[in-house]
Amino acid sequence: MSGAQVWVNGTKVITWPLGYNSFHCDITQWINEDGEDNSIAVRLENLPKSSRWYPGAGLYRNVRLVRTSKLHIPIWGTYITTPEVSRKKAEVSMQIAVEGSTDKELRIVTEIRNPKGKKVAYSESLVEELNDQTDTVMLRFTVRRPDLWSPESPALYTAHTTIYEGDLLTDSHVTRFGIRYTEVVEGKGFYLNGESRKFKGVCNHHDLGPLGAAVNKAALRHQLEMLKDMGCDAIRTSHNMPAPELVDLCDEMGFMLIVEAFDEWDIAKCTNGYHLYFEEWAEKDMVNMIRNFRNNPSVVMWSIGNEVPTQCDDQGYKVAAFLQSICHREDPSRLVTCGMDQVQCVLANGFAQLMDVVGLNYRTHIYKEAFETLPQGNILGSETSSTVSSRGVYKFPVALKAGAKYDDHQSSSYDVEYCSWSNIPDVDFALAEDFEWTMGQFAWTGFDYLGEPTPYDTDSWPNHSSLFGIIDLASIPKDRYYLYRSQWNENDNTLHLLPHWNWEGREGETIPVMCYTDYPSAELFVNGVSQGVVTKGSYSLADIDLSKMDKDALMARYRLIWPDVVYQPGEIEVVAYNAKGREQMRKRIVTAGEPHAIVLEANRNKIEADGRDLAYVYVSIVDKDGNLCPNASNEVRFEVKGAGEFVAVANGDPTCLYPFHEPIIPAFSGRLTAIVTSHDYRGSMSVKAFSEGLEPAQIIIKTN
Ligand code: GAL
Repeated sequence: MSGAQVWVNGTKVITWPLGYNSFHCDITQWINEDGEDNSIAVRLENLPKSSRWYPGAGLYRNVRLVRTSKLHIPIWGTYITTPEVSRKKAEVSMQIAVEGSTDKELRIVTEIRNPKGKKVAYSESLVEELNDQTDTVMLRFTVRRPDLWSPESPALYTAHTTIYEGDLLTDSHVTRFGIRYTEVVEGKGFYLNGESRKFKGVCNHHDLGPLGAAVNKAALRHQLEMLKDMGCDAIRTSHNMPAPELVDLCDEMGFMLIVEAFDEWDIAKCTNGYHLYFEEWAEKDMVNMIRNFRNNPSVVMWSIGNEVPTQCDDQGYKVAAFLQSICHREDPSRLVTCGMDQVQCVLANGFAQLMDVVGLNYRTHIYKEAFETLPQGNILGSETSSTVSSRGVYKFPVALKAGAKYDDHQSSSYDVEYCSWSNIPDVDFALAEDFEWTMGQFAWTGFDYLGEPTPYDTDSWPNHSSLFGIIDLASIPKDRYYLYRSQWNENDNTLHLLPHWNWEGREGETIPVMCYTDYPSAELFVNGVSQGVVTKGSYSLADIDLSKMDKDALMARYRLIWPDVVYQPGEIEVVAYNAKGREQMRKRIVTAGEPHAIVLEANRNKIEADGRDLAYVYVSIVDKDGNLCPNASNEVRFEVKGAGEFVAVANGDPTCLYPFHEPIIPAFSGRLTAIVTSHDYRGSMSVKAFSEGLEPAQIIIKTN
């Protein structure tokens, strides 16, 4: 059988099956036995061959052995909630479990420190004796004028707990937490710290594109930085339990999380799916997940599943009730949702009625009906959009289409193509704005991922990765990124123009131009000639039958569109105006000449010398004047020398068959990305990029 085994002093104490989720085993009784030469080993057997960087199954999360004294705080032994929160003061409630045996008095000292590390509350409690048991101490603290956690201000407190057995310090533990409160108010949606907000969220799978599934904190941080700039404030960990590294980063960087447990329950979605393990493992896995993440302030909701076939079973509500009750038992402080796609089924069979929060996947035309039928009074877009696009590829004529397929196996970057079950982003923006009872959305997906190359699901070869991402597999934003940014980023203006302006052979033909901006209007110029001022429309969904919405009118509310621009080479320029008609920003795209040189730009020029940190080196093919060549597909080769090494390449083309782990790949729409890592010593590495006929480029990245 495949799996992981733990051996202590030469004896196998536990075997974990090749599972799906996280497992914990308590082997403390084997540790610290006097006079023995203790040894602990984790052995992995028959796992599919995988290494730290490549995709696939295997062990893709960190494994830790935690060595403690016999008397200790067990794993997941602290639980902090903030039952009363206001700007003036917060009540912090803490449970601490202590495990082991002693006839001495135990002193448990806990100190709460604010985000600056200053002590703001303190408590000492005594436990008389422990006899091979677990005792739980309940504490309550008051924190005056707390710094509240939010995506915009992710303030983190810590509780430092120390256990003394008589005078002997036997264990200490730091629990990080946040002070914040969430509410879902009937008819009014989600509130954080008393303020109404709509989730500006994305769903993400856990793989890291060309790096594969093995967790890497630097890669996750880079993803979150890009999402932050887009204005995204929430992530749904679809459809499985997240890596703790992701949750920690969300605490620190300010993202709200819906932590999701399962993609399948007792009824099969696929032959070798979790249904095989459900009966034996579901409760254990849920308990582990909740205990592991219930102190993380970023986690604002649990999701017990995604589109599980059980939702249409007439007894399915019982399984949902069982899983939801585990969440309530283990963590009464958070509400529970489930991503439901068979909306007519769940409205009729009682499944949707019992969920704390009604999470609908797509089916935007049934939102009103669901809201009116269900008692909760709110609808969450647990999964939305599923618009498909390939970066830099534009299809004509520009028209809204479900399931459009082309010979090149790409989808249009005009952001007008979607699936039979899904929609363009504009619909979800309007649902969030026009109805108080909507709670916002989690768009499918933030990043492209390996697998599921819809709409090329059948006869898919050579497609191997998704087209759903707002950001492509090479971590390069698609046009859609700027559409979301124009709606979501409240700190910075957005002005983005599409398509590119290299349409050799289409002279005199119509090339629609779109602008994604937060400004209300803009004027487009082609070679200096005005194509007119366009102002955003006001088409609303409030009073219409949602199944009959006018999507073109809706697009005109969120995008500035010049549908009839006649192509001539040269340049297009857009000038954005504010509500008073004053010029605010300009953006220009020039018809590029022949590919001439490579340009490199790294997301970071200095990384940690720890053998794990990463830099993303973004590559563009430019003409002699430095303009991006939007059709360039030159093959680029890398050479990395010095205090680091090459890890992976990607170009975002879902049909590209070059392997990620070889330092050579063609550009896709003029761009690609190489990822490099540090060695574990200080120094600098040089990353050189070559391509036949082009000026090469070099960039230096320091490691320290
Ligand atoms: C949903 C599903 C996701 C993904 C998506 C593609 O139904 O939950 O995992 O398959 O469709 O649109």
